Amino acid sequence: MDSELDRIAEKLEKQVWEQFSETVFDHAKNPRNFGVIKGEDGHATVTGQCGDKIQIWLKLSNDLISEISFWTNGCGTSIASGSMVTELAKGKSVDKALQITPLDVLKALGGLPEEDVHCAFLAVNTLHEAIKNCLEAGKDGK
Ligand code: FES
Repeated sequence: MDSELDRIAEKLEKQVWEQFSETVFDHAKNPRNFGVIKGEDGHATVTGQCGDKIQIWLKLSNDLISEISFWTNGCGTSIASGSMVTELAKGKSVDKALQITPLDVLKALGGLPEEDVHCAFLAVNTLHEAIKNCLEAGKDGK
């Protein structure tokens, strides 16, 4: 009985994720850099138009983003977007990370359905706000 339910649940999950790339599925199921960094140099919480939040914490070292993490209470695509934006920003200089765009996140994820594109914007806005928070605090990692 249980295995029948498991099979149905698995089938339904597959149907839900069919519209997404394998990369989106992978990052949604196994998010990179998820959680809180203590002693961060910068942090931001941004609420998207959908009401979901993404938070990003980061640490700088020699002007490079040496550690970065995120948290979200949003959907699977916001998890995938937060995961991907932190992967793209890790190891980059502050200036280069500020140049990361929602299109970069969308390309790296293999695209998102139109109704989920705002998740990539939310992730990038949160990254940029976290970097601005570092810079406003006078922390540039140098
Ligand atoms: Fe709100 Fe994805 S961030 S639906």
